[in-house]
Amino acid sequence: MKKKITIAIDGFAACGKSTLAKDLAKALGYTFIDTGAMYRAVAFYCLEHQLISEDGILNTEQIDAALPLISIELSSDQKVWLNQKDVTQEIRTPKVAGIVSKIASIKAVRIKLVEQQQAMGSQGGIVMDGRDIASVVFPKAELKLFVRASDEVRTQRRLAELQAKGESMSEADVLANLKSRDLQDSTREESPLIQVPEAIVLDTSSHTRESQLEWALEIANQLLEEKE
Ligand code: CDP
Repeated sequence: MKKKITIAIDGFAACGKSTLAKDLAKALGYTFIDTGAMYRAVAFYCLEHQLISEDGILNTEQIDAALPLISIELSSDQKVWLNQKDVTQEIRTPKVAGIVSKIASIKAVRIKLVEQQQAMGSQGGIVMDGRDIASVVFPKAELKLFVRASDEVRTQRRLAELQAKGESMSEADVLANLKSRDLQDSTREESPLIQVPEAIVLDTSSHTRESQLEWALEIANQLLEEKE
């Protein structure tokens, strides 16, 4: 039987990480874990329970105290469950996007989610995407990819996703949110987004969904052959 490896995919907002991770996991028969969805679920909980104001003022003490009350599950049909409630749609709104990076900068939040992510991937056979997967969650992952895309492509992709869900946001606001999250994510004190030196970089700007999968699958299969 083929050995199962751990694949870590990191990158900036809306660069196509999750699409690639999902497709790669399906092709290899691995589990896909979208860690961004977990941070978004915590952010949604904080909004619902007024632990953060709409203009982004955090009540860190209350958030720390609420963490034991927050349970997040990702089901194999890609649904996101917060305390047994399906929040798959709710976590993708501009409101959540507006505050999630603040929530993700809280140390206690990261400790809780990273622990859960490490447990989810402890048996290998996973493709996990996020910001700190190769650097913090699975520093020993056999394959590390860093995904990039131009601002223009990222903006158009996110706009199309939002429009498909009936959300309205201007192009300028979408780009401003992406840039602001990139800055917060890569400059925060706790496990900032970094490109680890051993990561293989993929710019998805001029790739189709199929061609980026083909590219990644070739690398993964080569690695798997070497390991046999
Ligand atoms: O899909 P998109 O690129 O917009 O972002 P996401 O992957 O859903 O992640 C949402 C936010 O969660 C990011 O902007 C980060 O602030 C945070 N995040 C993180 O800090 N660490 C991760 N491993 C994943 C996401």
